[in-house]
Amino acid sequence: MHHFQDRVVWITGASSGIGAALAIEMAGADARLALSGRNHQTLEKIQQRCTRLGASAQIFPFDIAQPDQVQEAARHLLDHFGRLDLLVNNAGISQRSLAQNTRLSVDRRIMEINYFGNIALTKAVLPFMLQQGHGHIAVTTSIVGRFGFPLRSAYSASKHALYGFYESLRSELSDSGIHVTFITPGRIQTDISLHALNDQGDEQGVMDPGQARGMPVDRSARHIMKGLIKQKKEILVGGRELWMVFIYKFFPAWFYRIVRKISHV
Ligand SMILES: NC(=O)c1ccc[n+]([C@@H]2O[C@H](COP(=O)([O-])OP(=O)(O)OC[C@H]3O[C@@H](n4cnc5c(N)ncnc54)[C@H](OP(=O)(O)O)[C@@H]3O)[C@@H](O)[C@H]2O)c1
Repeated sequence: MHHFQDRVVWITGASSGIGAALAIEMAGADARLALSGRNHQTLEKIQQRCTRLGASAQIFPFDIAQPDQVQEAARHLLDHFGRLDLLVNNAGISQRSLAQNTRLSVDRRIMEINYFGNIALTKAVLPFMLQQGHGHIAVTTSIVGRFGFPLRSAYSASKHALYGFYESLRSELSDSGIHVTFITPGRIQTDISLHALNDQGDEQGVMDPGQARGMPVDRSARHIMKGLIKQKKEILVGGRELWMVFIYKFFPAWFYRIVRKISHV
């Protein structure tokens, strides 16, 4: 029997990229899937791919930046399934703009989606998981949640904030039967740079060359799946760029030399 067989797995950001690829992996493992994002049509396409693999998959569209919608989606999902084994809190949006030019409303928007929406969802399901006596919360951060990076000030801040919240939560939950996993991607080939916000809050609509050279998304999903089965505390996923995490930690002077060479425009 597979680890996720008949387990209820809720994936946010399942309409695209890493979340969609993980949904397909989970479908192959016979999980009972709940798929979320804002876009009905793309969610339905992923749902169809999952059901073609023989899995049960329901869609629960909502906007994670809207607190009422987060509460409603959680209530609806928990009523529907009556259990929740794994929440993959993965929805997110990136940024491509200099801190000095970025409107404060853009910083707030990124924090609402990547941080407040994320933790609101966890808070909405946590009482249920505690009552259930088991559960697993995986949260997609980023290597730039471990260090700062040009053109990513708000994005990097939102991902740093996730570490603070979930490291604390993990310590509070140590005897509860609930596990917390960080999924920490480097560069994965998804549309994230197309949707990244510019200094005015518009989608930049450009595929970054670095993003296009990233790890193929289905490979990243297989790697994430293995880490989730092991209930790892952190799953680093990507290519050579992951070395930056260790260079920052152990050779900071070298790290800052590398980052200075990276284009700021
Ligand atoms: N790709 C990378 O290289 C990389 C690197 C580091 C971290 N990450 C992280 O990985 C996660 C997934 O990103 P991705 O690369 O798969 O990008 P993606 O293809 O752009 O997917 C982003 C997902 O987030 C959802 N989303 C965005 N805003 C939302 C909102 N307001 N409410 C609900 N859902 C929302 C999108 O769904 P809708 O459009 O349907 O709402 C979409 O399913 C993000 O947290 C991102 O920060 C990615």
